[in-house]
Amino acid sequence: MFRGKDERHFHPVAPFFYTFLIIKKFHFYSECSIAPSAIKINLLGYSAKLKYLEFFYPVVTSALTTINTLKQPTSSAWVEQAIANLDIILLDHSHCERKAAGVALNFMFRYPSNTKMVRELTAIAREELEHFELVNQWLERRNIPLAPLPPPPYGAGLKAQVRPQEPERFLDSLLVTGLIEARSHERLGLLATHCPEPELARFYHGLMASEARHFGTYWVLADTYFDRETVINRLDELAIIESQLLATLHSEPRIHS
Ligand SMILES: [Fe+2]
Ligand SMILES: [Fe+2]
Repeated sequence: MFRGKDERHFHPVAPFFYTFLIIKKFHFYSECSIAPSAIKINLLGYSAKLKYLEFFYPVVTSALTTINTLKQPTSSAWVEQAIANLDIILLDHSHCERKAAGVALNFMFRYPSNTKMVRELTAIAREELEHFELVNQWLERRNIPLAPLPPPPYGAGLKAQVRPQEPERFLDSLLVTGLIEARSHERLGLLATHCPEPELARFYHGLMASEARHFGTYWVLADTYFDRETVINRLDELAIIESQLLATLHSEPRIHS
């Protein structure tokens, strides 16, 4: 028996159930099936989700998979800017991974009683720190010192959309963070496709699936604590703004320029 959102039990028919749910939810995504599987596996609290992510994501070899929640795809101008500035992109990527870990921790400080959220975000914080460590190894290999880098306006622009009062603040924070993860997934995929250095391209390819899964986790958390219609409507509003923020290419190369 499935035993509710917060319990970790797995039934032998679960793969068929997940497949059914994925088909039902496929309209959220274009070519990408990783995020729906992540969402539903998380919903059911299945602890061995990584195994099933591999099973449900045969298109992981395609770096062009995107999450349909994003309203506009990244422009070719960003790809050209990023590929021409791979060292700066790597340095900014390091900052992004550290910030992603910090965001997950901040949720736990702000909402320490939300058991499901704490469990999921503990895993994400750990994983983002692992990404941080891996990117930093690339920086060392290329003799790029860890240094401050002014952020693009993207993060502050999204943060400004978070309504100050609760519970809206919690919902908006989850959805904004999820959108950043979705965009990271798309852009790491573009780097994996266009990077002229095969080893670095493989590195980006190896990270992109995690970011799609993180989007799924934040979506599931929003869906856990708020009603579905509210989540979908607010995500739609925020996704429009997210794309608008990226409509004009920032002059400095960044992951989210
Ligand atoms: Fe990451
Ligand atoms: Fe992430």
